Amino acid sequence: TTVDLAADDYELGGHTDFMRKEMAEQPEAIARALRGRLDERFATAHLGGLGLDPMALRAVKRVKFLGCGSAYYAGQMGATLVEELARIPADAEPASEFRYRNPVVDPDALYVAVSQSGETLDTLAAVQELRRKGGRVIGAVNVVGSAIARECGSGLFLHAGPEVSVASTKALTNMTVSFAMLALLLGRVRDLSASAGQRIVTGLRALPGHVERVLADDADIARIAKRFAHAEHMFFLGRVRGWPVAREGAQKLKEISYVHAEAYQSAELKHGPLALVDANMPSVVIVPADDLLAKNLATIEQVKARGGPVIAITNAELPSGLADEVIRVPRGEPELDPILLTIPLQLLAYHTASALGRDIDKPRNLAKSVTVE
Ligand code: G6P
Repeated sequence: TTVDLAADDYELGGHTDFMRKEMAEQPEAIARALRGRLDERFATAHLGGLGLDPMALRAVKRVKFLGCGSAYYAGQMGATLVEELARIPADAEPASEFRYRNPVVDPDALYVAVSQSGETLDTLAAVQELRRKGGRVIGAVNVVGSAIARECGSGLFLHAGPEVSVASTKALTNMTVSFAMLALLLGRVRDLSASAGQRIVTGLRALPGHVERVLADDADIARIAKRFAHAEHMFFLGRVRGWPVAREGAQKLKEISYVHAEAYQSAELKHGPLALVDANMPSVVIVPADDLLAKNLATIEQVKARGGPVIAITNAELPSGLADEVIRVPRGEPELDPILLTIPLQLLAYHTASALGRDIDKPRNLAKSVTVE
């Protein structure tokens, strides 16, 4: 696999900063990740770089995603996709925790090392620990020829194109898109039906257009960001599919705006954090139009009852007046909701940081890739 690097990948091309440019590039980045990999006839995906034939794919008993920062949250979205589509146990863990805790390496598991740069030291060390113990590890890496890609020797490239901004946007999106294809492939060698597989193929094909529509909502999201930019703290709430989305949203806000944000599983709110909710503590609630919709509406009501402002990120029809602000995304296939619901949170963080006058591409104390302990 090769990626052509054009000089303008490293130029702003009329954008004010790289984060903005890279958010805008997401529809084409997704299209690139999908190119040549979707199979309509057999309703599956082709990921030749994995180096796993159907027998080997069927032998996988468990999937574990390892990464740092946003790559870890993308891995958590990947784990949810694998469990839903392939019905094999899957989870994600920060690569640093994994490497330091003398992990039990399961010979029947497929480990996935997730990294935009392919150079993050903690992730590389986790890969080395796995290989030393005879674990099967593949890379989900953006930069071809990077240390993690070479150490893994096989995997799937993200094809997001060069990412310059410290806050990851298009690379994270292409991680989750790639994991949806991996989950589809693992599902289709098992019991995922052709019609369910076709539904996912169609949903993936619709993504670039859907992302385009979310990006077009920029002005309204900027207005909402400005309205809440004075907040010192924010909650991000979600459950199941919405939980890694909430975590990634909180991460983005912290990284570039320096506003304190915490993510909670919605149902955990009542076990402690609810004590913090008041008029000065806005909550961003992730509300997918799935079978947990009623539960998520109840979460909004719980926050509202304590006087907390609510920004709902949703593809459902909400009762009018329930949330203070609603950011709507197009409706696609429910399993793919996390991919689309993450996009407005990039814009929310971006516009909050910009309202607060932050240096968006180079947030204080952070590096694009951390190659030291
Ligand atoms: C750094 C960046 C994060 C990024 C993480 C993992 O901490 O500030 O934004 O998510 O590294 O980077 P990677 O290149 O491995 O995806």
